[in-house]
Amino acid sequence: TNRVFSGAQPSGNMHLGNYLGAFRNWAKLQDDFECIYCVVDMHAITVWQDPEDLKNQVREAAAAYIASGVDPSKSILFNQSRVPGHAELAWIFNCVARIGWLNRMTQFKDKAGKNRENASVGLYVYPNLMAADILLYKATHVPVGEDQKQHLELTRDIAQKFNNDFGREMFPLTEPLILGEGARVMSLRDGTKKMSKSDPSEYSRINLNDDADTLALKIRKAKTDAELLPALAKDLEGRPEAQNLVGIYAALMDMSRDAVCGQFEGKGFGDFKKALTDVVVDKVAPITNEMTRLMADPAYIDSILQQGGEKAQAISEPILADIKKAVGFLA
Ligand code: TYM
Repeated sequence: TNRVFSGAQPSGNMHLGNYLGAFRNWAKLQDDFECIYCVVDMHAITVWQDPEDLKNQVREAAAAYIASGVDPSKSILFNQSRVPGHAELAWIFNCVARIGWLNRMTQFKDKAGKNRENASVGLYVYPNLMAADILLYKATHVPVGEDQKQHLELTRDIAQKFNNDFGREMFPLTEPLILGEGARVMSLRDGTKKMSKSDPSEYSRINLNDDADTLALKIRKAKTDAELLPALAKDLEGRPEAQNLVGIYAALMDMSRDAVCGQFEGKGFGDFKKALTDVVVDKVAPITNEMTRLMADPAYIDSILQQGGEKAQAISEPILADIKKAVGFLA
C-alpha cells in the first residue's frame, strides 16, 4: 500500500519556498494517497526555541498547512512530539546509521556553521529522526523540496541497513516526490542561496503571513539584473536571480519557465516585477487570510492536532512493536 508522509519545522515564519516546494504538493496528493502531515516540533528544538513561542509556531505551521489546502478530514495532521514512537525509533536508528553517513550531510554543515563544537547533538543526528518519522509509518512516498533529497537518501540507507542487519523486509525504500517548478525557490537577495527561515534578512523571503504591501515591497527590492527577458528559459543561464523570479512566476501560475519567458520576452524586470507582484499577492493573500482566520481559534487547531495524533499513534503502534521485536527487545 502507498502512504505519504511529510513535515515542516515550526521554527519561524512559513515562506513561499515551503508552500511551493511542499505544502501545495501535499494538498494535491490527498485524493490519491493516505497522507500523514506532521509539524516536526522535535526537529525544531535542535536549535533554541523559546517555549512560549514554540506553541504558537506549531499552531501557525498547522494553520499554514490547512490554508494551503491540507484537509484534516482527509489527511492526518499532528505535531511530532505527541507520538512517542518518533523518539523511540530515532534511538534505534542512531544505532543503525553510521557516523560517516551523518558526516556527509550538507544541511548540518550549513546550519552548524563554523562553531560546530557548539552545535547541539540533536542537530547532528537530526536526519536519523527524520528517517524515523517516515519509517514509523512505513511511508512509501515523501513530498519535499529539493533541499531534503540528501536526507531521503539517508533514509533509504537506514532502511536498507536495518533490513539487512535484522534479516527482514521491515521497511520500504521510500521514494522522494520532488515536484514542479517550485522545488527549489531561492533567496530574493541572492539567487544562489535557497529561500530559508533562518536567513537573517526579511527581504530574502516571502512569508505566508506577509500583507500585500510587504509582498510588493519585497518583490520591488528583490535583486535582479539589467538585462531583458529572453524568449527561452535556457537563456537565463548564469542569471540566478532572474531564473528564480521566472521560476516563482511559473510555479504560481502552473506554467513552464519557457511559457513565462515567451510571455515577457524583451521586457525588463521593472515590468516583470509588476506582473509578478500581482500574481504573488493574488495567490498568497488567500492563504494569509485563512491562516489569520484559523489562528483566531487556537482551540480548534489544538483539537485537530490532538485527533491527528491519536490516528498517527494508532498506525504507528503495531509497526513500532514489530520493529522492537525484530531488534530483540523483551516486551
Ligand atoms: P523544512 O521545515 O526546512 O521545510 C519544509 C518543506 O519545505 C521545503 N522547502 C523548500 N522548497 C523549495 N524551496 C525552498 N527554498 C524551500 N525551503 C524549504 C522543504 O524541502 C520541505 O519539504 N527536515 C525537514 C522536515 C522533516 C521532514 C520529515 C520532511 C522532518 N521530518 C520527514 C519529510 C519527511 C525540514 O527541515 O524541512
